[in-house]
Amino acid sequence: MYYSDEIVEEVREKNDIVGVISGYVTLKKKGSNHWGCCPFHNEKTPSFAVSENKQMYHCFGCGESGNVYTFLMKYENYSFPEAVKALADRAGVNLPEVEYTEEQKRRANRRQRLLDLNKDAATYFYYQLRKNPHGEVGLNYLRKRQLTDETMKKFGLGFAGINGGELVAYLHQKGYRDEEIRDAGLATHSEKRGLSCQFWNRVMFPIQDINHRVIGFGGRVMGDGEPKYLNSPETDIFDKRRNLYGLNYARTARAGNMILCEGYMDVIAMHQAGFTQAVASLGTAFTPEQAHLLHRYTDQVLLAYDSDGAGVKAALRAIGILREEGLTAKVINMRPHKDPDEFMKALGKEAFQERIDQAENSFFYEIRMMESNFQMQDPEEKTKFHREIAKKLCSFEEEVERENYLQAIAEKYYIGVENLRKLVISYAGSAATVKPIERPKSGIQSKDKVPEGGKRAQKLLITWIADYPQIYDKIKPYITAEDFTEDLYRQVAERMFAAIGKGKFQAADVINTFEDEKQQKEAAELFYEVLPVMETSQEKERALQDVLYAVKKNSYEHFKQQQDQRDIEAVSKVFAAKKALMELSKLHISIE
Ligand code: GTP
Ligand code: MN
Repeated sequence: MYYSDEIVEEVREKNDIVGVISGYVTLKKKGSNHWGCCPFHNEKTPSFAVSENKQMYHCFGCGESGNVYTFLMKYENYSFPEAVKALADRAGVNLPEVEYTEEQKRRANRRQRLLDLNKDAATYFYYQLRKNPHGEVGLNYLRKRQLTDETMKKFGLGFAGINGGELVAYLHQKGYRDEEIRDAGLATHSEKRGLSCQFWNRVMFPIQDINHRVIGFGGRVMGDGEPKYLNSPETDIFDKRRNLYGLNYARTARAGNMILCEGYMDVIAMHQAGFTQAVASLGTAFTPEQAHLLHRYTDQVLLAYDSDGAGVKAALRAIGILREEGLTAKVINMRPHKDPDEFMKALGKEAFQERIDQAENSFFYEIRMMESNFQMQDPEEKTKFHREIAKKLCSFEEEVERENYLQAIAEKYYIGVENLRKLVISYAGSAATVKPIERPKSGIQSKDKVPEGGKRAQKLLITWIADYPQIYDKIKPYITAEDFTEDLYRQVAERMFAAIGKGKFQAADVINTFEDEKQQKEAAELFYEVLPVMETSQEKERALQDVLYAVKKNSYEHFKQQQDQRDIEAVSKVFAAKKALMELSKLHISIE
């Protein structure tokens, strides 16, 4: 840990989780929880619960859960210390100077070194383009593509010359070691030739994160070489799935939409023409992570993909990903030109703005693209096409939306509304078209029997005690942390029982004592097991007793299996467990 447990706890206590999360999600109080739509997956009905008592959140749809810290780590992409810092600022707590462990210092230093190195390399390329006579090839190329000096400067464009050795020499002189140059993805190493530069004879596009830090490069070859674009490999600082080219500028464009395209040159050409909301993925296919990133800034994405076959395929994939993320997508028609850059060169930016205004709803686009797979003169093919439309319409869960699309499509393709509706209904229930169903909305499920031993009973018991810490005193004689046979559960139980003993138990604190993010998440889940429905206190007693019994029986069997007859301690544990079990079966625990 970077900060002491005390300070982490103090900061957490001063930041009520309901207040913090309300800043991001609209919450409504219902029962003992506050409910909202989960920010970590796409949903229309709230299954995201925030508990003031427990100072935790849990989504019954996607299973995310945790405390204020994990929320910020997940939502804002903060590291743990960044989350502590943000919440300390929010609550006006002064943090002590941070003490980093050696390992943490090493890792932070390493990332910083790679960022510095990339920045120095970008500066080097930048000067090669302007100051080195060899760079003239690059400069002429960019001018021929009609980029202004201002644009080149804004995007930090540069040039990698024929002599790659110079970059290495420059970086050595700046104090970087061979491994660092290699780890930044700027050079490869071989026994025979030592370091050889990755990029040469290319115009260089520094790739920046949203904070304008250079995390990698794309390089376009001069002339017809292969590959046309070469990109840095993924490194410790370059994650291609989670960054978008141009987003450092586009995030403040506030155009009401974002334009997603395929190429660096397209992004730059659009920014130069005033469409500063343009971004591109990084030489790889568009990812759900990138869709999520875009969702922070907009609800509507306009696709400006290439008009060729590959572009259409990529657009169709992107539409699916955007829809999953809950973003509206529209498609900009680039025909008869190939991409935004070529379109604007040929027809100008006003014509491009018109195409933006006319961008096609992504569902219509999908249907139109599907249409080209069928021979519409052939009645059988036409029927098949109508069936495909019906299947696709089934993907709208909301009836009003489905009906609106149904009518629009029926009109557009001259299909009788009634006929199409019948088709849709015939597909509505079939497995191929049914979307996964959302999980239960409330914390309480239908009357389920208390389960047999093992994991679930242990989880239930932990949730139960966390919800009603006062029962701990009553069950203490029968249950110890050792009865939790799963490692993590036992650790949680130990910490929880200790805290209850001291009279200051908070589920969120117990979670904090785990440093590993995965463990934190698993621990958090233990506090959100779904308790059975219990109306009368009799029912409650009965259910609690069943759970206790199941946990004890499981641990009894566990001990028994493990016991070594020569180990007196083990044998006595088994006996003690058996005795507790017998008592438990007769016990009445009053809960009220
Ligand atoms: P220009 O010919 O410079 O206008 O290229 P373009 O912007 O029309 O790009 P193109 O459609 O050829 O490629 C679009 C994007 O795909 C580029 O910006 C790169 O990110 C990526 N790309 C293109 N060619 C390659 C390649 O050979 N390898 C890799 N990894 N990515 C490529
Ligand atoms: Mn192009």
